[in-house]
Amino acid sequence: MKKVLMVCLGNICRSPLAEGILQSKVNTDKVFVDSAGTAAYHTGKLPDKRAIEVAFKYGIDITNQTARKFSIKDFDIFDVIYTMDESNYQNILILARNEADEQKVKMILNEIHATKNASVPDPYYGGQDGFENVLKMLDEACEIVASKF
Ligand code: 4NP
Repeated sequence: MKKVLMVCLGNICRSPLAEGILQSKVNTDKVFVDSAGTAAYHTGKLPDKRAIEVAFKYGIDITNQTARKFSIKDFDIFDVIYTMDESNYQNILILARNEADEQKVKMILNEIHATKNASVPDPYYGGQDGFENVLKMLDEACEIVASKF
């Protein structure tokens, strides 16, 4: 079983969408997808209403998810850890215990434009169109990720 972790800051907007989108594109008997945040602000909460709505519009239900904080143990569980932005990337990389851990950490948009280190913009303080934009970016990246399995 391949295991993929999606990481953002709060685990209520971007990474829950990434989790739901990738799950919709893979055989979930063969690929386990989860998500986490670098911060614990929203632990135990459902994804943001706006993320739930935009996912629903595209036929994806993310209401089974609850937010949690990234844990060092995730390095033992997951094969790949996709971070949404530069700040999440640095915050996870600093927790790596060895080179094997470090190599698991990637920026998700590098799947589209390798080495560009582009970030998925944080939609939390914006409107619904920001969530739509995030969904489209993640859909393109997850299509490429899914094609690897
Ligand atoms: P996310 O968005 O990292 O995509 O889940 C955010 C959610 C909450 C906050 C910031 C970003 N916050 O500051 O509470």
